[in-house]
Amino acid sequence: MGVFFSILALFFFYFLFSISKRLLATPKKLPPTPPSIPIIGHLHLIKKPLHRSLTALSNRYGPILSLRFGSRPVLLISSPSSADDCLSKNDIIFANRPRLLIGNRMAFNCSNIVWASYGPHWRNLRRIATVEILSSNRIQMFSAVRIQEIRSLVKDLFRDSELGKSVVELKSKFSELTFNVMMRMIAGKRYYGENVVDLEEGRRFREIVKEILAVAGASNFGDFLPFLGWMDLGGVEKRMVKLARERDEFLLALIDEHRRRRNKDGFSCEEGEEKKMKKTLIDVLLSLQETEPQYYTDHILLGMIAALLAAGTDTSALTTEWAMSLLLNNPDVLEKAKAELDIHVGPRLLDESDLSKLPYLHCIVNETLRLYPVAPLLVPHESSEESIIGGFNVPRGTMLLVNVWAIHRDPKLWVDPLDFKPERFQGSEGVKEGLKFIPFGHGRRVCPGAGLAVRMVSLALGTLIQCFEWERIGEEKVDMTEGPGLTMPKSQPLKAVYKPHHTMLNILSQL
Ligand code: HEM
Ligand SMILES: *[C@@H]1O[C@H](CO)[C@@H](O)[C@H](O)[C@H]1NC(C)=O
Ligand SMILES: *[C@@H]1O[C@H](CO)[C@@H](O)[C@H](O)[C@H]1NC(C)=O
Repeated sequence: MGVFFSILALFFFYFLFSISKRLLATPKKLPPTPPSIPIIGHLHLIKKPLHRSLTALSNRYGPILSLRFGSRPVLLISSPSSADDCLSKNDIIFANRPRLLIGNRMAFNCSNIVWASYGPHWRNLRRIATVEILSSNRIQMFSAVRIQEIRSLVKDLFRDSELGKSVVELKSKFSELTFNVMMRMIAGKRYYGENVVDLEEGRRFREIVKEILAVAGASNFGDFLPFLGWMDLGGVEKRMVKLARERDEFLLALIDEHRRRRNKDGFSCEEGEEKKMKKTLIDVLLSLQETEPQYYTDHILLGMIAALLAAGTDTSALTTEWAMSLLLNNPDVLEKAKAELDIHVGPRLLDESDLSKLPYLHCIVNETLRLYPVAPLLVPHESSEESIIGGFNVPRGTMLLVNVWAIHRDPKLWVDPLDFKPERFQGSEGVKEGLKFIPFGHGRRVCPGAGLAVRMVSLALGTLIQCFEWERIGEEKVDMTEGPGLTMPKSQPLKAVYKPHHTMLNILSQL
């Protein structure tokens, strides 16, 4: 009898225990979410440009939102503290990338540095990028390339101006500039302007790159509604596959060309200064391949080169275009920048080694990146585990969008947020506290090309300000609306009036 009651009591206590455990456990608290529609989730709320419609959502529902893009759970962040939760405190958890069509089809099944998820493979690519390719040493080595390319742009502008006022369309000038700089670093060849080695080859590759940018900028609903993906509406996937194949054929031919040259020259000889200058990034990658051929296959090399081109060219060109547009609309800032150049550089052309003496120019670049961050939502991340963000539970496998554009224009964080005031970066308002200024992202996935980008943009802006007087066409301000596309292009390509600066005529005519 006693045994029976003991067993009963035991069951009873076990029962109580398991019930109370359920009741006491903190319930999962998901971030707030706007009303959604079955199957498509919140896709109906999304309009172009994406960063603007997402900003409207966070203004209405809060800085930490849980959304659904079709079948994909999304976490939308638009405050510095929640960005800190994702990109600092839970950095590793959010260091994955979602598998999107573009990564699968244009980045070797999501295996290049941009689209690979966190793990040994990505860590290795990242190490190569930061140590071998984009280190300050290597960037320094290519300084002459950037100087030559910007001077060649200035020379063209001078020739076309015939000493009077002329009009120039700057968007294409900047994209040719950054493309030439990147291709000379990568392969030692330029594809626009004079001394182009192979015109036909260049023309074909430029076409490919243009189309890749277009297809990458088109949002693809198949990423969020898998049943649409299977149907490939609009043939996006077919186009991607075709473009990726053409791009790879082209880059593979470049790699082969380098390989043949190395075999002929012999690659083990000592590294003189002369040789260092001619060493391209393909050479750097080929030396890695020679030491570890099983890992550094041609695919890995291709992936790295394609990633550098895709991530580095358009971004820097568009930032320069936005900066020039802002300067034209704010002539007082332009004047101040010119004065700084006059004092610290004087009557000779700007060199990269001068940049450290030009803090105001750097403030202009920062202020441009604040108002027009060309990756307004960073690149999407994805969580590999459950995490707690701002007190809410966020499940694993959630796609993270950080709305940098919204943070950079938040009136709670910035005084007169819509005004272009580079001076704010000199004062206390600047960048010191928290993640309120993150045009390059933050944490493990932060842009590895930030140093190169800032140099390229500053050098281009500084040299153009030095050499020419710039004005808007007519009285009206430059139209600052952004067009469709992931890297936030200007909707109207920038055109401006310019004439050579009288103090620079001598120098310009000697170029
Ligand atoms: C103004 C110019 C640029 C801006 C605003 C910019 C911004 C960014 C941003 C926001 C990201 C994503 C960060 C994240 O995932 O959280 C990124 C990634 C990246 N950027 Fe840049 N970038 C610029 C120029 C460059 C240049 C010049 C290069 C190299 C030549 C470069 C190479 C990369 C690479 C390889 C990644 C992927 C890193 C990874 O996923 O681990 N970027 N960039
Ligand atoms: C791409 O990667 C996934 C998972 O890593 C794998 O299942 C798939 O077979 C791969 N596809 C190709 C074409 O390599
Ligand atoms: C510009 O912003 C960067 C952060 O991206 C910061 O480190 C730097 O100090 C800023 N420079 C100036 C002159 O404000």
